Amino acid sequence: MKILGIVCSPREGGNTEILVREALEGVRDAGGDPELILLAGKEIAPCDACGGCVKDGQCIVEDDMQDIYEKLESADGLIFGTPVYFLNVSAQAKAVMDRTYGLLRAGKLKGKVAAAIIAARRVGAGQVLSLLYTFFAVHRMIISGGGLGYGREKGEVREGPGGSPDVTALQEARAVGKNVVRMAGRLGK
Ligand SMILES: Cc1cc2nc3c(=O)[nH]c(=O)nc-3n(C[C@H](O)[C@H](O)[C@H](O)COP(=O)(O)O)c2cc1C
Repeated sequence: MKILGIVCSPREGGNTEILVREALEGVRDAGGDPELILLAGKEIAPCDACGGCVKDGQCIVEDDMQDIYEKLESADGLIFGTPVYFLNVSAQAKAVMDRTYGLLRAGKLKGKVAAAIIAARRVGAGQVLSLLYTFFAVHRMIISGGGLGYGREKGEVREGPGGSPDVTALQEARAVGKNVVRMAGRLGK
């Protein structure tokens, strides 16, 4: 069972990456096959509304998103991680989200299991989690939950709490990974 973790931070080795890597350890614990994608250093243009995907759902913009399309389509589950930027997702996350428009039209993400990981310094993680749940729901993905972590500098998230009472961010992230695999298993993937 293939579970894709996408880190939508421009900062390599940052808090989102730490949490998504931990979630993918949870995937491994539960018997899944994890794969990590870092957007840092990748070129992913914003959707330019060219309409090229309207006919068959295939985006015609030639950049690093083409590789991500293949991985998304073959995955059983997705762990989508973003830092909070101005109470929203990062620009990198938004570019990927918008560029899934063609996949939406073709229903290519429908039925895949999805979870969110959010890194924030202080404010907006819950709101970004809601945004991502809505994004997953629009694609008719099966939402298995999410995890939050707090920190500003790289690595601070290791010391901080998660979004639920009495768990650390790392514990919560690991549980997110395990739950994605369990949910996908229940769905017969
Ligand atoms: C442009 C920018 C905007 C940010 N906006 C917020 C914000 O609205 N709320 C918040 O809690 N943290 C905000 N932060 C802090 C980051 O969310 C935080 O440092 C996070 O841990 C970064 O994750 P990363 O290490 O994966 O990049 C912002 C950081 C940057 C660079």
